[in-house]
Amino acid sequence: MNTSRSARPRRLLAAFCAGITAVAALLIAGTTAAHAADTPLRDLAAAHGMVMGTAVTGSKLTGTYGDLAGAQFSALTPGNAMKWGSVEPTQGSFNWAEADQIVAFAQAHDQQVRGHTLVWHSQNPSWLTNGTWTSAQLSTLLQNHISTEVGRYQGKIAAWDVVNEPFNEDGTYRSTLWYDGLGADYIANALTWARAADPAAKLYINDYNVEGVNAKSTALYDLVRSLKARGVPIDGVGLQAHLILGQVPATLQQNIQRFADLGVDVAITELDVRMALPADSAKLAQQAADYRAVTAACVAVARCVNLTVWGFTDSDSWVDSTFPGYGAATPYDADYAPKPAYYAISEGLGGGTTTPPTGACTATYAVSSQWGSGFTGQVTVSCAGASLSSWNAHWTFGAGQQLTQAWNATCTQSGTAVSCANASYNGSVPDGGSVSFGFNGTWSGSNPVPAVTFAS
Ligand code: G3I
Repeated sequence: MNTSRSARPRRLLAAFCAGITAVAALLIAGTTAAHAADTPLRDLAAAHGMVMGTAVTGSKLTGTYGDLAGAQFSALTPGNAMKWGSVEPTQGSFNWAEADQIVAFAQAHDQQVRGHTLVWHSQNPSWLTNGTWTSAQLSTLLQNHISTEVGRYQGKIAAWDVVNEPFNEDGTYRSTLWYDGLGADYIANALTWARAADPAAKLYINDYNVEGVNAKSTALYDLVRSLKARGVPIDGVGLQAHLILGQVPATLQQNIQRFADLGVDVAITELDVRMALPADSAKLAQQAADYRAVTAACVAVARCVNLTVWGFTDSDSWVDSTFPGYGAATPYDADYAPKPAYYAISEGLGGGTTTPPTGACTATYAVSSQWGSGFTGQVTVSCAGASLSSWNAHWTFGAGQQLTQAWNATCTQSGTAVSCANASYNGSVPDGGSVSFGFNGTWSGSNPVPAVTFAS
């Protein structure tokens, strides 16, 4: 593993404030003088014989996104690029571009690739789902798909999520194209075909809501036991872990342990912890506790070999579009500042020097006066137990507001996006001090307070 890479994430100082007239929460990231030498998550994980993974989008693997993906993680999972609908949108016509790109990036950064996923009820091409197939045809299609995709990447994929989400919540088999057409043995056959195409790849069944001991995870447990008894190749189970704030199952470690005791590896494959927006410091602290608990449970069981987050930045998460009003589910914010969750993973992996400072810089957005079609707003930044050397506040005007003038900051508006950087004379906010800037704008209909991100 390459340990020479260095990513030095800025510390996150989160705050939630109340103001005079109308106030928004500002998440504040600032650089502190006492910046600890953070060990990349991948190196901390390696000390436990684990890999630290993230789902990625191939087109984003440049700039800061690429730097962090390469430096912090030792395994990549293509979030969408290896799904059947992505690789064979038209029957017999393949598009491997994004999958190839991710594999190449991983190889260049000494990373594993987790293949995701071969057999699923979702994100299949329409020619497949709209077709009328006999059982024999369906079986041949599936075998060819697995042989083609696994064969293409033979030797380059550490583990495959061969079968994804086969169960209902009550532990019965999910009715899918595969189960309905082929019966439950589509799972055993898929595993067998995958093993034939790449004998070295670890083969997994992956599902959600199987993190704790419950009917669904017990069905998975029973299936794995029976597959092993039959000699079907099965190397591990993937616990997706799409969690809700404050709801890490109490039986997570016990559940991981029972699979380990069955003789298979366990991977946390898609960890995220979603919260109702906007985020605030209390929610981010709870989220950190949740990430820490999941990390600790995996660390505690030797056969828990992979801890993968489903996107590492809030700008690349499936949550916001799938659960309107929810988000902020990943360890880095949308500006790539590490959140308390990042430090919690680090601590859970044994990183000792990365606890974020207990002090904070807080900020208020207030509409201080409003008339006919105009208004005056003010943002005040105050620091206690922390300091900032520069800052940049940005937000989205969601109701057509338009900035007309600003003072004590340099503000620009592009479409609905507003960005205000410190002036030459007020970038520094000392411990115990505060800085304000103001602006005039126009509004019509309503003038709601936006959520503001405030980064150094
Ligand atoms: O690629 C198209 C793009 O061309 C189009 O403009 C855009 C407009 O909607 O859609 C794009 O496709 C989207 C695709 O993600 C790529 O961004 C699909 O609409 C969207 O449905 C798809 O969502 C993916 C989701 O699986 C589908 O169920 C998420 O990104 C992906 O993170 C998510 O991942 C799944 C795991 O595979 C299995 N476990 C659950 C997890 C979360 O749902």
